[in-house]
Amino acid sequence: MKKEIRTVYEEVGYNELSADEQKLVDEAREATERSYAPYSNFRVGAAIELDNGVRVTGANQENVAFPSGTCAERSACFYAHARYPEAKFKKIAIAARGTDGEFVAEPVAPCGACRQALLEYETLAQGPVEVLLVGKEKIYRLPSVASTLPFAFSEF
Ligand code: THU
Repeated sequence: MKKEIRTVYEEVGYNELSADEQKLVDEAREATERSYAPYSNFRVGAAIELDNGVRVTGANQENVAFPSGTCAERSACFYAHARYPEAKFKKIAIAARGTDGEFVAEPVAPCGACRQALLEYETLAQGPVEVLLVGKEKIYRLPSVASTLPFAFSEF
């Protein structure tokens, strides 16, 4: 029996976003400035909107022992939940600058490990966490973290 999993997302411009979404995108872009990426020079920023109105940001943090670093998304979500354990995640925006320092034309998507990490907080929130993948001009809007991760690991 053939089965299918579909992911639906929108491509939107900055001006089509709500005021809240625009703020989150602005903060994700700003957070790229706080990336510590001396090895890859690929600077990623993430901003998470919580249901208590707070926005938390993170940026990739690299390490001379490469696997010891972490991505922007995990730095943001781990800090958000460590700092505000009662708050539910509402939205996340992710932006990146390439080695030329410019925002990437094609929005970057979170790596597999970050998708699984973010899914944990979507599960805790008991509702969808909107995902905004931010390129220089175009923005991809996905309805949930789950929609980025078919065949997620869950329940053991
Ligand atoms: N990186 C992120 O911060 N988020 C992603 O979703 C993918 C990759 C970081 C890890 C590393 O510091 C740099 O980008 C290059 O891979």
